[in-house]
Amino acid sequence: MPNQKVLVLDFGGQYNQLIARRVRECSVYCEVKPYTMTLDEIRAWSPIGIIFTGGPNSVYDPAAPHIDPEIFTLGVPILGICYGCQLLAQGLGGLVTPAQDDSAREYGKTETFYDTSCRLFAGLPSEGISWMSHGDYMARIPAGFTLAAHSAACPNVAICDEERGFYGVQFHPEVNHTENGLAMIRNFLYGVCGAVGDWTMGDFMKESVAAIRAKVGSGKVLLALSGGVDSSVAAALLAEAVGSQLTCVFVDHGLMRKDEGDEVEAAFAPWDINFVRVDAEKRFLARLAGVTEPERKRKIIGEEFIRVFEEEGKKIGRVDYLAQGTIYPDVIESGLGSAATIKSHHNVGGLPDFVDFREIIEPLRLLFKDEVRSLGRELGLPDYLVNRQPFPGPGLAIRVIGDITKEKLDLLREADYIFRDEIAKAGLEGEMSQYFAVLTNMRSVGVQGDSRTYDYTLALRSVTTSDFMTADWTRIPYPTLDRVSTRIVNEVPHINRIVYDITSKPPATIEWE
Ligand code: XMP
Repeated sequence: MPNQKVLVLDFGGQYNQLIARRVRECSVYCEVKPYTMTLDEIRAWSPIGIIFTGGPNSVYDPAAPHIDPEIFTLGVPILGICYGCQLLAQGLGGLVTPAQDDSAREYGKTETFYDTSCRLFAGLPSEGISWMSHGDYMARIPAGFTLAAHSAACPNVAICDEERGFYGVQFHPEVNHTENGLAMIRNFLYGVCGAVGDWTMGDFMKESVAAIRAKVGSGKVLLALSGGVDSSVAAALLAEAVGSQLTCVFVDHGLMRKDEGDEVEAAFAPWDINFVRVDAEKRFLARLAGVTEPERKRKIIGEEFIRVFEEEGKKIGRVDYLAQGTIYPDVIESGLGSAATIKSHHNVGGLPDFVDFREIIEPLRLLFKDEVRSLGRELGLPDYLVNRQPFPGPGLAIRVIGDITKEKLDLLREADYIFRDEIAKAGLEGEMSQYFAVLTNMRSVGVQGDSRTYDYTLALRSVTTSDFMTADWTRIPYPTLDRVSTRIVNEVPHINRIVYDITSKPPATIEWE
C-alpha cells in the first residue's frame, strides 16, 4: 500500500520546509512542490490534502503567483497559510486588500481567540499566541466560509468552510512561536484529511535508498566524512543504497576528541564500502606549528583538509557523484546572504570543484537536524555518533589556546573525556547543548604532593542554546563540577587548575577561538 500523501504547494514563503517537517512529524508523508504544478500532475499525485504556503507577495498583484481555481473542485481539503489563506479567499470569491490602517497589519506574536467548534482548532484552548506576518487583509470572506479565529486588530484571523474542507489561517501554525500550531496541523491532517499516520522515518529511508539507487545506477560516489552527525548519516544512507560504489574519505587530522577516529571507523564496519581513513595528523600539526592566531588556524586547517581530500580524490580518479551531508538549515543559511563574519566556520560540506565529478548529491537536503538523527538511528548507526554534540570542523585546534602541540592536544583530549564522562554519569547530557574543555595557554602556581607546580589552567565550557546564535552558560550542579575538577587534576598531568566559563553568548562566543 502506498503511503497517504500531502502536497505542500510552495508560494515562496520562508517557512515552507518547516511546514513539510511538521507534517512528517505527524507521521504523514508530504512533499513541497512549486505552485506551478499543473492540475493534471496534482490529480496524478493524488494527495489526501493540500497546503498552500505563505509567500512574500500580495494576491491582488496580478504578477503574484496564482493558482488555477479548478483546484477547488478536486474534492481535496486545503489549508491556506498566510499568503495561502489570502489566495484561498480570493480564489473562492472573497476580497483581499492592503490593510487600511496599521492596526490590521500584524507581525509577530499576537494574542488570538479561536472558535474550537472548527475542526482545525478542535480540542485546543480557545486563546493563545499565534505568529503573524501579514500586511494584507481579507475585506470580504468567500461565500460558504465562517470566521474561526480573531485577534484584537483583525476579525478574520482564520476562516473555514467545513463542508468542503477548506481552511485558511493568517498566522503561521508551523513555527514554534504559535502555541498549539503543531496540534492545528495535526487536526487538519487527521480531523479533516483523514490521515491515518502511515509514514515513518523507516519509509523515508527506504524511499531515499531507492531514489539514490535509481539516480546513481552503477556510478561511483565520493563522500568526505568528518565524523559529524550529518556526514555520518549521509554516508550510512549512501552505504545502504550503493554499498561498494561508495568511497568515504575520512581525513583524520589528529584534532579529534579521544577515540573519535576509531569510533567513526568502527561505525562503518557493517557496510561493504571503500572506507579510506587518512592519518594526516603529522602534516596538520606541522602546518599548525607555532600558529597562535585563531583565524589563521582555521584557514590552515581548511586548506590542508582540501589538499588531503584532493590527493585522495586523485587516487580514486573520476567519480560520478560527490556527496555531501548538507541539511536543510544549511540550505536556509546559505540563502540568507552574508552576515558579518565573526569566525570563518570551516565545514567539510561546501567542497570546491577540485575533484573531477559529474554532479553533487545531497541526500539529507530536506531534513532538519533531529530528523537526521532519527534517520541515523534507523540506519543502525550507534548512539554515540547519532547523538553527537556539535563539534567544530577545526576540532581541538581552536580549543588549545595559542600554539598547538601534540602534547597539549593529548592533555586536552584526556581532560575533555573526563568532563564528558562525568556529565554522562550525572545524566546531564540532555540539559546542555554543547560542553567541552579548553586548554588555556595560561599557567599558574599550584601545590601537589608537597611540591610546587607551575602548570596549565583548563577551562570548562558548557552552554544551553536552541540556535547556537545566542547561548547561556549551563548551571551545572556544584557536585558534578567538583567531581570533574578533582578527577582532571588527579588524572591528567600538567593541569593544576580548573575554571568554569560563566559567560553567555553574546558577548562571548561558544568556542574560545
Ligand atoms: P561560536 O564559537 O561561533 O560557535 O559561538 C557556534 C557553533 O559553531 C561551532 N563552530 C564551528 N563549527 N566549524 C564548524 O563546523 C567551525 O569552524 C566552527 N567554529 C565554531 C561551535 O562549536 C558552536 O556549535
